[in-house]
Amino acid sequence: MQIITLFQLVSASILALAANAEVYFKEQFLDGDAWKGRWVNSEHKSDYGQFKLTAGNFYGDAEKDKGLQSSQDARFYATSGRFEPFSNEGKPLVIQFTIKHEQKIDCGGGYVKVFPADLNQADMHGDSQYYVMFGPDICGYSTKKVHVIFNYKGKNHLIKKEIKCKDDELTHLYTLILNPDQTYEVKIDNEKVESGSLEEDWDFLPPKTIKDPEAKKPEDWDDRAKIDDETDTKPEDWDKPENIPDPDAKKPDDWDEDMDGEWEPAMIPNPEYKGEWKPKQMDNPNYKGVWVHPEIDNPEYTPDAEIYKFDSIGVIGLDLWQVKSGTIFDNFLITDDVKEAEDFGNETWGATKGPEKKMKEEQDEKKHKEEEEEEEEEENKEQSTEADNEEKDEGKEEETEEPPEEGDEDDALPKDEL
Ligand SMILES: *[C@@H]1O[C@H](CO)[C@@H](O)[C@H](O)[C@H]1NC(C)=O
Repeated sequence: MQIITLFQLVSASILALAANAEVYFKEQFLDGDAWKGRWVNSEHKSDYGQFKLTAGNFYGDAEKDKGLQSSQDARFYATSGRFEPFSNEGKPLVIQFTIKHEQKIDCGGGYVKVFPADLNQADMHGDSQYYVMFGPDICGYSTKKVHVIFNYKGKNHLIKKEIKCKDDELTHLYTLILNPDQTYEVKIDNEKVESGSLEEDWDFLPPKTIKDPEAKKPEDWDDRAKIDDETDTKPEDWDKPENIPDPDAKKPDDWDEDMDGEWEPAMIPNPEYKGEWKPKQMDNPNYKGVWVHPEIDNPEYTPDAEIYKFDSIGVIGLDLWQVKSGTIFDNFLITDDVKEAEDFGNETWGATKGPEKKMKEEQDEKKHKEEEEEEEEEENKEQSTEADNEEKDEGKEEETEEPPEEGDEDDALPKDEL
């Protein structure tokens, strides 16, 4: 009886959990070419790069790790997948995917865009209006960041914080959580890397307060911390000429006043010259501190508790530029459940990362060995040609560079110098 009750309880709670989590979109590319029926390539331009389905050069699982890989260098890519439209009103919104830059990316986007349901997928392009743009972007050494861009009232707003992205060749998990209390969190590999509030970390709204335009610093506001000490007086002997005639200068013997004019010694800096006199400084008894401009509520500011809300989320897309192709996108997930996303991340990236790293390390090791062997071969070749040359030159070398046959240095000196 008790066992059955417990069993029923557990299955009921599992059902409840499953019912709680809403998964709006999930794409793992586990059904061969069928993804081609779910993803729509944009035709806005005629020369977009092609995505191909592959697990890449190294992976944790040859089948499960298949994802969309950019396959042509220096191309724009534009493809997207549609799902049942929903609003994130009153619920968390979680956007998650994995990405692997196995090509040692030099410059290229690695982000997703989440669009309103009315997007024309066949015409999706760089200026198509989106709700959210999220994910890594790498270009050279200076740009290695995670974008978090939200559209608010028709305008895109970039996060003000700098979030560093991963720049190695392994698969990483990127997660964005947007909460209805207008807080957010960014996770990489299921670990928080940034969090905060929409109002503080983006410029969606004008500032809450502004400097009071009516307020002015009072005329008599004394903001000098130090003033001249009036009791201080200049010492009588302070003033000295800056330059004086050189006392060591002598009229040259052959100076001819008729010819050369009157002799004058050269001028030199006066060692007793003390510069301009300034009175000592003292604390200003009338000092009032730095004047702070009073602030007032900004009449332009209206709080908005629905910055986070998007009415009709319906498409996720890859709309990006890559110089060096080879990036693999996989395990897309859009849900309202943070734990569901974490679980899914663990099941996909979490299960992949270990074996993937091992395979990569083995490949690197093998490559390293092959390179070493090649180098050795090269060296051997060089040495054998050198040996040939040496044989030919032997006669000459004996005459010039033959080392002393025996004994210490003294013995080595030529006989006639001893
Ligand atoms: C995911 O994996 C991490 C590390 O193994 C673990 O701490 C965490 O509890 C897991 N999350 C879920 C939701 O199971």
